[in-house]
Amino acid sequence: MRTIGVIGLGYVGLPLAVAFAREGVAVLGVDTDPRKIEAIEAGEPYIEDVSAADLAQVRGQLTVGTRYEALRDAEAVLICVPTPLSRNREPDLGPLVEAGRSLAGVLTRDQLVVLESTTYPGTTRERLAPLLEESGLAAGRDFQLAFSPERVDPGRTDHTFRTTPKVVGGLTDACAARAEELYGLVCDEIVRVSSPEAAELTKLLENVFRSVNIALVNELAMLTDRMDIDIWEVVDAAATKPYGFMRFEPGPGMGGHCMPVDPFYLSWRAREFDMVTEFIELAGKINQQMPYHCVAKAQRTLNDAGLPVKGARILVIGVSYKPGVGDIRESPALKIITLLGDLGAEVSYHDPHVAELGEFNLRSVELEQALTDADLALIVTAHPQVDHDEIARRARLVVDLRGVTRAGTAQNVVRL
Ligand SMILES: NC(=O)c1ccc[n+]([C@@H]2O[C@H](COP(=O)([O-])OP(=O)(O)OC[C@H]3O[C@@H](n4cnc5c(N)ncnc54)[C@H](O)[C@@H]3O)[C@@H](O)[C@H]2O)c1
Repeated sequence: MRTIGVIGLGYVGLPLAVAFAREGVAVLGVDTDPRKIEAIEAGEPYIEDVSAADLAQVRGQLTVGTRYEALRDAEAVLICVPTPLSRNREPDLGPLVEAGRSLAGVLTRDQLVVLESTTYPGTTRERLAPLLEESGLAAGRDFQLAFSPERVDPGRTDHTFRTTPKVVGGLTDACAARAEELYGLVCDEIVRVSSPEAAELTKLLENVFRSVNIALVNELAMLTDRMDIDIWEVVDAAATKPYGFMRFEPGPGMGGHCMPVDPFYLSWRAREFDMVTEFIELAGKINQQMPYHCVAKAQRTLNDAGLPVKGARILVIGVSYKPGVGDIRESPALKIITLLGDLGAEVSYHDPHVAELGEFNLRSVELEQALTDADLALIVTAHPQVDHDEIARRARLVVDLRGVTRAGTAQNVVRL
């Protein structure tokens, strides 16, 4: 039986491990967080894209633990550790360096190592390869090394792991060929590029593209607010053009592990080449302004109703960073709650995916009663199972930052 290892069993690593295990591959999963190991062993998933049924299905195929020794037996090891930003918004390769060092201690001849974590061009060759070579083995000769970016979009069901083409760039042709053959087990289409750097930049282009386009429509949303034009109406109308336009939604800002973080990996790297990546910086700046704009909008809405924000009871609806998931990393809702709290509002929240917000000492409240109590309901993230039309009917005032009430004509609703 074929055996692979997966390092880092989070949003990226766990679905990947399950995908290979489903194809009959024995998967050795390693994570430094013992809680994740316990949860998997107990058959309790902690991310939306992997169900308890999925874990039950691969029981016996997927073995997990905190120790790297198990990886000696793997023909290939896929690295899916986080690549966050440091406090001063520079790439923090700490988890990757730690994983690389630990893997070097158990690396064996002819193993294939693939980095999946999003990072700047040059990381695989300049940072990971030397770490792995501390094993005494040479990259591209004694072991194979490639980069293949993950394209998972948590909560999405229309495109699956299998149907989403996978980009692969190897240190050598032989490295790429090995990676291509391996991913062919779980993906229908592999797109081979000429180098790890091209694969690394491909992922960043995808994310920068989204970030810039979201910023563009967000900037227009701030403008249409002043011009008294409905941004949703404009986006809907523009999206009827069958070519040359791609729809992006305005909103309260960007969240998640990728969009607010990854583009800055590229702008950091660009500085080494005497380049300032202005699109990236500008998009980041505009998207970071959105929570402030949204809070100002809520404040004006209360003001128009004769209410000061100080002491107002504001119910935030949806606090995760996107619909259908419970991930709150970098969620604009957190910034909005902070800003409203600073203004003296009494904030509560409802989110079927997020039971509590420890940093605010808040727990998700029951919707019906909360709507009766609130002066204003602020729709920040529109989960599919929440009835927003019903919210528009029941709440005294609504500020809708996601355009989900736009079919209605209720006078108590204000949209972004
Ligand atoms: N979440 C997404 O939607 C997404 C999509 C595409 C790409 N990515 C990229 O994939 C990478 C992983 O992201 P994620 O969302 O899965 O992160 P995550 O935080 O959900 O998971 C990473 C896991 O790695 C573990 N870990 C950290 N250091 C380790 C080490 N030294 N050894 C073993 N395990 C270690 C952590 O405990 C955690 O469980 C990042 O580079 C991210 O940018 C994420």
